Amino acid sequence: TTPQKFRIAAIPADGVGIEVVEAGRAVLDALAAASQGRFTFEWQEFPWGSDYYAKTGRMMDEDGLDQLKDFDAIYFGAVGWPTVPDHVSLWGLRLKICQNFDQWANVRPVEFLPGIQSPLRKADTTELNWVVVRENSEGEYAGIGGRNLSARPGSGEVAIQSALFTEYGCERIMRFAFDLARTRTHKKVSSVTKSNAQQYGMVLWDEVFTSVAADYPDVETESVLVDAMSAKFVLRPEELSVVVASNLNADILSDLGSALAGSLGLAASANLNPERRFPSMFEPVHGSAPDIAGQGVCNPVGAIGSAALMLDHFGLHDEAKAVRHAIEVVTGDGVRTRDVGGTATTREVTAAIISNIAS
Ligand code: NAI
Ligand code: MG
Repeated sequence: TTPQKFRIAAIPADGVGIEVVEAGRAVLDALAAASQGRFTFEWQEFPWGSDYYAKTGRMMDEDGLDQLKDFDAIYFGAVGWPTVPDHVSLWGLRLKICQNFDQWANVRPVEFLPGIQSPLRKADTTELNWVVVRENSEGEYAGIGGRNLSARPGSGEVAIQSALFTEYGCERIMRFAFDLARTRTHKKVSSVTKSNAQQYGMVLWDEVFTSVAADYPDVETESVLVDAMSAKFVLRPEELSVVVASNLNADILSDLGSALAGSLGLAASANLNPERRFPSMFEPVHGSAPDIAGQGVCNPVGAIGSAALMLDHFGLHDEAKAVRHAIEVVTGDGVRTRDVGGTATTREVTAAIISNIAS
């Protein structure tokens, strides 16, 4: 039979993004080489990012979305560098792709790996594992607002930043969260808002949550305010399974989750267009980490875990499982980068994961 071919657009972009994309590609290429002709990955790398901006005044080509739209997936590193304002780099590349390709579901598992010390003492004795489902198309990152609005006397410049919530947008992310909960041992969805203070959008969110929940009587539910949920992440994480939240709240909670799991460098994420009208994008949760970039010491596990999520998206579930298993063996064996208390380099961890898959 002819091998299945998957075309992947790689966008390493900035800082450690470049190092971790190299790591993830190495793992995927090793899998393809070992697949005995069952599947291949065809890569095209795009040079977009903050250096590109310095040369061209753009974070990506003007027709960049056109160039990306026919790929099977996008494998992304991280964007942002001190030479470009963060809102310019983020909106010019990552948010542009997420929003135009309607990658409305951002899935961010919080996994506790063997051999990695969590700041939660509870993690030593309790089985912890949950997933943050982030509404990724509207909410606080809808980009609605403006600056230099006619000021109140004495207020100086006025800026307004609005959050957009649609019934359609709320309903699809909640159904996604409930469907995901049904695949898990603990069938539960926790909805996060700040609807006591934000009485329009987040009250709509709460109402849609209640009506969608009625279609899933087999799934347990709870609604928790975001401030209380951040405390719950720390104090009662064993009660969590699927946590669904708006764009900003889930962004914050998923960083908290990965820090609790031991490091921002461990956390994987998938930006999905579940209808598959556009390519989905897979990237680690972390940013470009300018403080350690270029030293070869960043943790590749988040990016490699994101590659495993991409394998799942391709239907290569056994391979995804093999990658996740290899990550667990390697962290358990003590091959760790320094953010998680080890001395191994990015490439050493990557090589250990590859050799575990092969064995
Ligand atoms: P960051 O995630 O880049 O770094 C936060 C801390 O975590 C740093 O101490 C860093 O060294 C550490 N860290 C991050 N990734 C790591 C890894 N793989 N291994 C070991 N340690 C790691 O967040 P920060 O510093 O707030 O932002 C830096 C730049 O990244 C900014 O320009 C920001 O806009 C951008 N950013 C981009 C994101 C994306 O492309 N999705 C997400 C978050 C931030
Ligand atoms: Mg973030």
